[in-house]
Amino acid sequence: MTRSYTPALAYPVLTPLYDLTLELFGFGARFKDGIARLADVDAGEAVLDLGCGTGTLLRALAARQPAAHYTGLDPDPRVLAAARRRLPAEAGEVTLIRGYAQHLPLSDSTFDLVISTLIFHHLPDEGKRQAIAEVRRVLRPAGRFLLVDFGAPQTWTSRTLLRIGSVFDGRANLRANLAGALPTMLTRGGFSVAEVAPRHRGLSHLLCQPRPT
Ligand SMILES: C[S@@+](CC[C@H](N)C(=O)[O-])C[C@H]1O[C@@H](n2cnc3c(N)ncnc32)[C@H](O)[C@@H]1O
Repeated sequence: MTRSYTPALAYPVLTPLYDLTLELFGFGARFKDGIARLADVDAGEAVLDLGCGTGTLLRALAARQPAAHYTGLDPDPRVLAAARRRLPAEAGEVTLIRGYAQHLPLSDSTFDLVISTLIFHHLPDEGKRQAIAEVRRVLRPAGRFLLVDFGAPQTWTSRTLLRIGSVFDGRANLRANLAGALPTMLTRGGFSVAEVAPRHRGLSHLLCQPRPT
């Protein structure tokens, strides 16, 4: 696998501090529980966590609905190993695979739900468009995509957090987020989009349904 990616916390040497940093900035276990509640997974559904990182969301999802089929995908083998260590206690059926959101090694129309938290701001604009097309391809026609990532900042706090974040994640990759362009990209990619929860530290919660072609 030769493609490059931005690892959690941007520098490999910092990745071991990722879980602690998530908690400190309010993106940790409590936040992931809220996302799992919003996702409202039904028994038997097939769910993909795109850019699953260290598995905190998979753990929250599986704790809430153990009778579903979960797949976590991430390009970084080290976070996948951390996710594997974290999961066995709570998780029902979880498959972890190494891969990139832009080129999913997964079949068409496979998932009822794709969720992605905190990864789109790591992707360049073309990568964002490719990832949206790939999510649409792997979703079943009646499936849904819950995309949680930074939107245009509405408060001083989120503007400040995003300024700090851009040091790690790169200004170019964050630009479309900060301009509030994700909903437009998703609409152009064939989804109907609704913001379904209040902003959380600058993150918007976009629930996207594939529009019939
Ligand atoms: C900020 S972390 C978020 C992890 C997790 N989703 C969470 O909310 O805790 C970003 C993750 O995106 C992954 N990532 C980076 N580029 C990616 C890509 N092209 N496709 C899929 N995942 C990617 C990184 O390896 C990292 O685990």
